[in-house]
Amino acid sequence: MDGPLDWYKDAVIYEVQVRSFCDTNGDGIGDLPGLLSKLDYLQRLGVTALWLLPHYPSPLRDDGYDIADYLGVHTDLGTLDDFKAVIAAAHARGLRVITELVLNHTSDQHPWFQRARRAPAGSAERDVYVWSDSPDKYAGVRRIFPDYEDSNWEWDEVAQAYYWHRFFRSQPDLNFDSPWVQQALLEVVDFWFGLGVDGMRLDAVTYLYEREGTNCESLPETHAFLRKLRAHVDARFPGRMLLGEANQWPEELVGYFGDDDECHMVYHFPAMPRLYMALAQEDRRPVVEILARTPAPPPSGQWATFLRNHDELTLEMVSEDERAFMLEVYAQDPRAKLNVGIRRRLAPLLGGDRAKLELLNVLLFSLPGTPIVYYGDELGMGDELDLDDRDGVRTPMQWDASPSAGFSSAPPERLHLPVVSDPDYAPPAVNVAAQEGARGSLLEWTRRLISLRRELPVLARGGLQVHEPENQRVLAFVRGDSGEQLLVVANLASTPQRAELELPDHVGRALRDVFSGAVLPPLSGPTCSLELPGYGYRWLALGAPGA
Ligand code: GLC
Ligand code: CA
Repeated sequence: MDGPLDWYKDAVIYEVQVRSFCDTNGDGIGDLPGLLSKLDYLQRLGVTALWLLPHYPSPLRDDGYDIADYLGVHTDLGTLDDFKAVIAAAHARGLRVITELVLNHTSDQHPWFQRARRAPAGSAERDVYVWSDSPDKYAGVRRIFPDYEDSNWEWDEVAQAYYWHRFFRSQPDLNFDSPWVQQALLEVVDFWFGLGVDGMRLDAVTYLYEREGTNCESLPETHAFLRKLRAHVDARFPGRMLLGEANQWPEELVGYFGDDDECHMVYHFPAMPRLYMALAQEDRRPVVEILARTPAPPPSGQWATFLRNHDELTLEMVSEDERAFMLEVYAQDPRAKLNVGIRRRLAPLLGGDRAKLELLNVLLFSLPGTPIVYYGDELGMGDELDLDDRDGVRTPMQWDASPSAGFSSAPPERLHLPVVSDPDYAPPAVNVAAQEGARGSLLEWTRRLISLRRELPVLARGGLQVHEPENQRVLAFVRGDSGEQLLVVANLASTPQRAELELPDHVGRALRDVFSGAVLPPLSGPTCSLELPGYGYRWLALGAPGA
């Protein structure tokens, strides 16, 4: 596709679980032709890139993050031709496509693993995975799914050895010390980029290497592999993007951009829970502190930001006290807790409160980075707490009020996951058909937010200056470095708040309220006094200085 090499900086990404989006053959499972049939909807929504959850053949022990064939498409979703058709149709609409690249592990059903467990110990075939005679190796390394796994080692009867797995035992880790593994994965990258994929999400990229005496995360060898991968991609496919999933603190996170020679994008994991914390505490400090701790990415780098995704709302990057606070506020129902996080969707997390939903979305769209919208959150979809693991936040997209939500012609009991049953969030209450074109609906509000963001390049590319008015309940910052700038002001409290902002550099500049369109009198002095209703927010565009 045409456009700047760093298109991802201007993007608004939509994360879509193809299995749960739209089913066209009536088997109760969403598919690629279904996604294709909804591209018009996505184009109208205004997002510019789609991130598809894993589309590969897989036994689905981890919803496709357990890949059994890197070069194929899961038959549930369709064929490789269907995949190509999605790419072509998306590109024709100006939509980019980002897919998953699970580097760290495969399914235990992958032929590489089946071959490895039967190959002689020490052979190149065996060493495609990580083996040990004892489960004491790499002692003390944390488990990522502590609710499901009590060890990172699993005994394999066939191999008569233990294999290493950071995630489920059905996901053996690949051995990046094997040159064969590295080469095979580069060929996978070539295959999908060769088909026109625009970006790849590097799943669980922190864990590629293991070394005794370390926590086996973010090792220098992992960064070296990322440099090799980036150089490979930039040389063959300039303008394609690598998005690193590294659930780490800002100081380590920024390392995943390397010296502008590793990932193009990296998720800002620590910012996410702090947005919820600031809201619950009615205090901007959690957000301000994490921003102050966040180094700037290198020139081609961009943060990826999000409120929710297909996993639990992870609480790994907070202190123990903060975790306890988050669980107390946002996971009152014990079923909501999962691993080190909360398995709820955005709307139920916020008690369905429209003002809070708008406020958090505005912050997501205002802070540095490219925002990601999780499918269904544009409508305020709910979740299903009785489903296993993270399935409760991956339920069918609610297109209309019918029992199968317009997702499938199959009856509700034949859907791969049930639709949400809570009457406040079930299809009759929350669906696209009712909200599309309806004044004041959350969907229409989200569409407007996306369109306003796309008209304000400072939000995509501009710098950040945080202001600290005395009133801690107000979060205020300016985006943009010179010329057009945007003043963002948000009231984190449920009650009206006033804040005095010191803006001595902006005296005389005209102000335009982006949401209402109102033009305000130019700033007459260094102090700007603003009153905001409970959970109120404003985007104030500062006209060019002197204009
Ligand atoms: C990532 C994915 C998650 C998956 C895990 C293992 O964290 O987001 O869904 O279970 O990697 O692949
Ligand atoms: Ca189907």
